[in-house]
Amino acid sequence: MAEDYAVKYELLHVEKHTGARLGKITTPHGEVMTPMFMPVGTQATVKNVSTRELREIHSQFILANTYHLWLRPGDELIAQAGGLHKFMDWDGPILTDSGGFQVWSLSQHNKISEEGVTFRNHLNGEKMFLSPEVAMRIQNNLGSDVMMQLDEAIPYFETYDYVKNSVERTSRWAERAMAAHKRPEDQALFGIVQGAGFKQLRKQSANDLVSLDLPGYAVGGLSVGESKEEMNRVLDFTVPWLPENKPRYLMGVAAPDSLVDGVMRGIDMFDCVLPTRIGRNGTLMTKHGRVVITNAKYKNDFSPIDLDLDDYGSTHYTKAYLHHLFNANELLGQNIASVHNLRYLLKLMEDMRQAIAEDRLLDFRAELMENYGYNKK
Ligand code: GUN
Repeated sequence: MAEDYAVKYELLHVEKHTGARLGKITTPHGEVMTPMFMPVGTQATVKNVSTRELREIHSQFILANTYHLWLRPGDELIAQAGGLHKFMDWDGPILTDSGGFQVWSLSQHNKISEEGVTFRNHLNGEKMFLSPEVAMRIQNNLGSDVMMQLDEAIPYFETYDYVKNSVERTSRWAERAMAAHKRPEDQALFGIVQGAGFKQLRKQSANDLVSLDLPGYAVGGLSVGESKEEMNRVLDFTVPWLPENKPRYLMGVAAPDSLVDGVMRGIDMFDCVLPTRIGRNGTLMTKHGRVVITNAKYKNDFSPIDLDLDDYGSTHYTKAYLHHLFNANELLGQNIASVHNLRYLLKLMEDMRQAIAEDRLLDFRAELMENYGYNKK
């Protein structure tokens, strides 16, 4: 029964014109409001950002990766430290991805079978084996609030037959993950709907996973090179197959237009490395679109970095100073830009929640598209 799960979803309001959901997720590490964006802390750290800063900018949920933490420092060491929350000093909720995606994107010579995935890791080339049971053991040791099942994240343009076999295996892996789960009382296992662009296979995947009555569901295999229209098309038919009383998570998405488009289609949770990755390279996400702070025009610009935001760096430092930090390869620049981009996305989601509560999400979207510069393209 859903009521017994460690993570629960409460639907608070459905936006009148779009069906977007305002909700609340309760976890063993507190409550969060949805829709929300989760900063990514792959190796038990959101790159260049301290947990104190994450709290200051009102991060609710953060993400970490099974694959990376298994390799280094090892899930058993983290269990010895008292779990991932203690190890990294984050007492809010944590979601861990299963490794299903990273095995494909980072390691070499991976080979998939019914049992699991054999691969050579990206650090020292050692041969390793990841199965639904191993992914659960690692995540049980990490102690994350939400664990993802091991899935196969397949290239978008695979053939129907390949995707069908893969989806069916991912469903069997979800059942195995459930059976291997050792801590259902304080950790929730989410299933991942796959199926690339095939409506029939997305339906099969969703139906298989929903029949397991898991506490939440992700839509995976998107934002991997397909167009935005294509992603919206898949969400249009996939999300309605997911239960209304569970959270829905779109994996690997952070572009502002995709966030609002996902929310309008009933998505509650998002994550992506985009804000911290582009921040490290000197690109800021702002209300008026992307700003490349390394551009020469900011050399003498003594205006604050971003007065639309309220984080310390955006309001206390100037564009000229941040330009200088990047120019001189000073690490503080990466910190300021990363915190800035995260605050931008967290505030975007705060504003989106307000717009849902007031039934004006379509106006919100129109304004976002206009301000961010999407309409110019
Ligand atoms: N991150 C982004 N997309 C995916 C996906 O399809 N599966 C998993 N496990 N992680 C992801």
